[in-house]
Order: sequence, then C-alpha cells, then structure tokens
Amino acid sequence: MTTLDPHPFAIRPYEPTDEPSWVRCRVLAFLSTQYYDDVWPRRPDVVAPSFGLVAVDTDGQVLGLLDVRVDGDEATIDSVATHPDHQGRGMGTALLEVAVERLVRAGITRLDAWTREDQAANSWYRRNGFSEAFQYLHVHLEDGDDAEGFTTPAGFSSPVRAFVHAGIEREQELRERFARVYVCRQYVRDLSAGTPIETSIESADYALGMTQDFATLNAHAMEVAAAYDDLSTKRIGRPWTNQEVALGFVGDVGDLAKIVMTLDGTRRIDGIGLEQLEHELCDAIWSCLVLADRFGIDIGESFPRQMQDLVRHVSELRADEESTDSATLAG
Ligand SMILES: CC(C)(COP(=O)(O)OP(=O)(O)OC[C@H]1O[C@@H](n2cnc3c(N)ncnc32)[C@H](O)[C@@H]1OP(=O)(O)O)[C@@H](O)C(=O)NCCC(=O)NCCS
Repeated sequence: MTTLDPHPFAIRPYEPTDEPSWVRCRVLAFLSTQYYDDVWPRRPDVVAPSFGLVAVDTDGQVLGLLDVRVDGDEATIDSVATHPDHQGRGMGTALLEVAVERLVRAGITRLDAWTREDQAANSWYRRNGFSEAFQYLHVHLEDGDDAEGFTTPAGFSSPVRAFVHAGIEREQELRERFARVYVCRQYVRDLSAGTPIETSIESADYALGMTQDFATLNAHAMEVAAAYDDLSTKRIGRPWTNQEVALGFVGDVGDLAKIVMTLDGTRRIDGIGLEQLEHELCDAIWSCLVLADRFGIDIGESFPRQMQDLVRHVSELRADEESTDSATLAG
C-alpha cells in the first residue's frame, strides 16, 4: 500500500480567492516570531513581474506562502511563511525552489531577504544557500519606554509607540534604553549561475516535493479506485483483477495515440481537442497509480529516484556525444 502523507500539499501560483486563508496563514506563522505585531489584514498587491506562490492542502487551504518582488534583474522575498502546524516539512524550501527556478528562467541574478533574529528564519535562509550581507537595527519605542528625544508636531503628545531603524554600531546603547531592539539581517542568494536541472532534480527537496505531489494525486486516484471496485463488484461480483486494470490501461493508451495523431493532423476524428487529451492523460496516470498501489510500489518515493537515474543516464549519453563530436572535429 502506498504510504500517504497525512497532509499532502501542492504548490501553485497565488489566486485572489486565497486571500483570507493567506492572511490567516501569515498571521499564525509570525505570531511566535519577533514580527508578532506586524499583522496585515490584507495581502499587499503583488504586480507582475513580481509574483506569489502558495502551498495548499487538498481543500485549497493555504499552508505556506511566498511573495517575491522583482525589480530589474534583482528580486526580494517580501513574505515567506509556513503555517505553524506544518513547519519543518520542507514546504518553505519547496516554495523557494519553485520561485528560484522561475526567477532564473526570467534572468534574475540575485535574490535577497530581510529578517530579524528568529532562529528558524535565520537557519532556514542559511540552509537554503543565502549568505548574510548586511545588518542594521529595528527599534521599537513601546508604551512606557523613555520617549526622550522623540519629537512630534505641535498639538500632539510625545509618541506612545514608534518604530525606527538605526545603525548596527548603536546596538549596545539602544538595547540598554529600549526593550524591543532587533538586529535585522539581509540575506543574499546569488542566482547568476542558474539552477541546472541536474542540481534541482538531484536535491532532496525535489524528491520531497515530488513525493508530496504524488501523495495528492494518489489520494484522488485511490478514492476513484475504491468507487470503481465497488461498481465492478455490483456488476460482475468482484473488482477488476490486476490484468484487467492493465488491459484498461492499454485501451487508454490506444485512445491517447489516436488523440495525439488527430491533434498533430495525422488522423481525422471529429470532436477531438485538448479536453480529450487531458482526459486520456489523466486516465492513463490513474491506471499507473492503481497498478503501483496493487503491487505495493510507492511511486511518490520511486519516481524522483527513477528520474534522477534518468538524468544521470542522459548526462552520460550527452558526455559520450560531446567526446565523439570533439574526436570527429580533431580528426
Ligand atoms: C522560516 C520558515 C518559512 C521555514 O519554513 P518551513 O516550511 O518550516 O521550512 P522547511 O521545512 O522548508 O526547512 C526546514 C529548515 O528550516 C530551518 N528551521 C525551520 N524551523 C526551525 C526551527 N523551529 N528551529 C530551527 N530551524 C528551523 C532549519 O534550517 C530546517 O532545516 P533542518 O530541518 O535541516 O534543520 C518558517 O519557519 C516560518 O514560517 N517562520 C515564521 C515566518 C518567518 O519567520 N518568515 C521568514 C522571515 S521574514
């Protein structure tokens, strides 16, 4: 039996209907951090080429989010957060890797981010290839703090609360005076070398992301398989055997071939379009998942491994081609 992730997630672009769930996820994620009072009741507008990604569960609830602001050939992480019940499962990293691939494709050479002293955030950035580039201070004047030196326009009281920036060299002095002083660090990741497919596909994060994507697919497929087993038991007194499922798959592949030939203009079948192709591809994947499940193969675990093997195999073939080319040139 395929091991199902009890909380599978999928990564996709942010959609406007995600907003209530996005806001909840962000507020809950930051509640236990030094940004606990940086509450946003709405998601700030993100205008292309800037973009947002979300990790959602099977009900479409946002469990993780990442907004990236793009400016010329540089980009900044404006928001990254994972719902507190789902932290440490690779969701933040999976979101980041999808974003990085997109940024690299768009020719962005540098990604940065700013964060305070929370251990989770700092170690997450370092673990994900970011290096510290700059430090300064975030200083809060809170109700009850000494407001000496803070001025306000005539007719106003001295400030009850304030939030200001200061140079890192004043850290000791400001910590003695204010209770809420944070070092804010800039983290930078160089994207100029790109993310070659060999690198991303070889990574554990890729494997994890694929496992989770398959868990979602598989959960849907198993639901449908149970319904078919039930129907078949009513009709013929038993579910389809493995061989019958495989034969059904062969039928789907035949239909798939006809659809592709029609779409490519080799055959003529009326009423064939992308909708039929989509249906047939999903049917074919469904049969594969059912067969894998019946033979106890965990496709979520084996697919990334098999793909990694294929990548290595293709790299070897490419290296062979290149050495043959250079030998031919030399000759
Ligand atoms: C930072 C954050 C987005 C990481 O998301 P995540 O989905 O939990 O992270 P991942 O599972 O992809 O990565 C796990 C890594 O993150 C770091 N990490 C996550 N939680 C951690 C914790 N409680 N303590 C220490 N390190 C932690 C570690 O480096 C960990 O790697 P490890 O498992 O090898 O030790 C998440 O902790 C979060 O939402 N924090 C609150 C919001 C925030 O601080 N955002 C960033 C600053 S603006």
